Amino acid sequence: MPIAPSRRSFLKALAGPLVAAAWPGNAHAVWQEPFAGEPGLAARAATKGLIFGAAEVAHALANDPLLVEAYRRECSLLVAANELKWWALRREPHKLDFAAGDWLFLFAKQNHLAFRGHTLVWHYDVPSWAKEIAPGAPARHMLEEHIWSVAGRYRGHMQSWDVVNEPLHPADDRADGLRRSYWLQAIGPDYLDVAFRTARAADPNALLVLNEYGVEFEGGDNPRKRKDLLRLIDGFRARNVPIDAIGIQAHLSGAPDWFDAKVFLAFLDELAARDLRVLITELDVRDDDLPRSVDRRDRIVADRMTEFLETALSHPAVGAVITWGLSDRYTWMSEFHPRSDGFPSRPLPLDSAMGRKPAWAAIARAIDGAPVRTPLPRAPAASLRSPA
Ligand code: G3I
Repeated sequence: MPIAPSRRSFLKALAGPLVAAAWPGNAHAVWQEPFAGEPGLAARAATKGLIFGAAEVAHALANDPLLVEAYRRECSLLVAANELKWWALRREPHKLDFAAGDWLFLFAKQNHLAFRGHTLVWHYDVPSWAKEIAPGAPARHMLEEHIWSVAGRYRGHMQSWDVVNEPLHPADDRADGLRRSYWLQAIGPDYLDVAFRTARAADPNALLVLNEYGVEFEGGDNPRKRKDLLRLIDGFRARNVPIDAIGIQAHLSGAPDWFDAKVFLAFLDELAARDLRVLITELDVRDDDLPRSVDRRDRIVADRMTEFLETALSHPAVGAVITWGLSDRYTWMSEFHPRSDGFPSRPLPLDSAMGRKPAWAAIARAIDGAPVRTPLPRAPAASLRSPA
C-alpha cells in the first residue's frame, strides 16, 4: 500500500535521526536533525503576534560566533542579562559605566533585535555605598536620578523595561506582601510609584513592566504572592501609576505536580482584566534534581516547558516568551543551581553546541499551537546611533 506522503516523510525524518543516533559520535546530533532547517522560534512567534527572545551577557555574544548565529536564527529580542543592573552600571560610587550595556544595545540594533532593559530597581544588587545614602528625600533623589540616567539613555530604543524586579516577598510578613528591601526601608512603599512614574517620564515609548517570580505554581507562597500582586496593581490603578505589563519569570521546576493550568489561566485573566499585558521573561527549567541521563532530563525539561507554555500561550494577554539564556553553555543555573553529580545543567532550548533540543521543540510546538493575538506595542524602530 503506497505510504501517504505525510507518513513517508515522517518515517524518513524518523529514520535519519535514528541512524544518526546509532553512530556514537553523533549522540547529540539526533535532536538537531529532526529540527534542522525548521523555521526559528522568532519567525514562528511572529505569525502568532508573539515575540520570542532571550537574555544574554555581553561577553558571551562578544566571543562566541556560534551563539551570535543562534540568536540571529532564533530570536527577535535581546535582554541585557546583567549589564543594566545597578551592580554592573555602578561599580564605583556615583559613576555610571554604560560600556557593556551600550555594546549589547548596538549588538541588538545591528542584528535587528528589539532590546529589553533589565532592571531599573531590584532589592538584590544595591551597592553598599548606595545604602549609605540617607533615607527619605536623598534616597528618593538617588532612585529618580538613576532611572532618568539609565532609561533616559536608551529613550525611544527600548521595547520594555523591567522597572521593578521582584518587589514581593510574603515571607517578610508585611500586610501588603512587599519585600523589606533597601528601597522600601529608605523611601517607603511608594518607591514603586516613584520608579514607574520616573521611568514613564524618562522613556515614554518603553513598555513598563513589573517582573516577578513565584506566581506560576501552587506550592509555597505562590498563591499568596498572586493575591499580593493583584492588590499592588489595584493600588497602581487607583493612583494612576503608569504600568503596562507584568513579567512572569517562569523559572520552572522539574517537578510536574506544582503547576495547575486552571489556576494559572485564572491569574492571567485577572491581569488582563486590569488592562495589563504579560511577558514570560526568564523561562528555563531547573534540572539539578532531575535524572543524570541526558535523554531523560531533556525530555522532562521539554515536558515542563510544554505544560507551562501551552497554557500560558493560550491566553491573548501573553505577548512574549523570553528564555533566560538561549544555550546551556551560558546558563546561570550552572553557577547558582549546579548538579551534585557535576554534570552540566541543561535548562534551555539549545545545547552547548547550539544544537536544538527537545526543549526547543517544546517551545516551537507551543508557539505553533497558540492562537494569534494582538502584538505588544513596539518602541519606534531605533536608528543605529549610539544612545544618550
Ligand atoms: O562580573 C563579576 C566579576 O567581575 C566578579 O569577579 C565576579 C565575582 O564577584 O562576579 C561577577 O559578576 C557576577 C555576574 O553574575 C556575572 O557573572 C555576579 O557576582 C553574580 O551575582 C551575577 O549573577 C547574576 C544574578 O542575576 C545576580 O545579578 C546572574 O548572572 C543572572 O543570571 C541572574 O539573573 C537573575 C535576574 O536578574 C532576575 N531573576 C532571576 C535571575 C536568576 O537569578
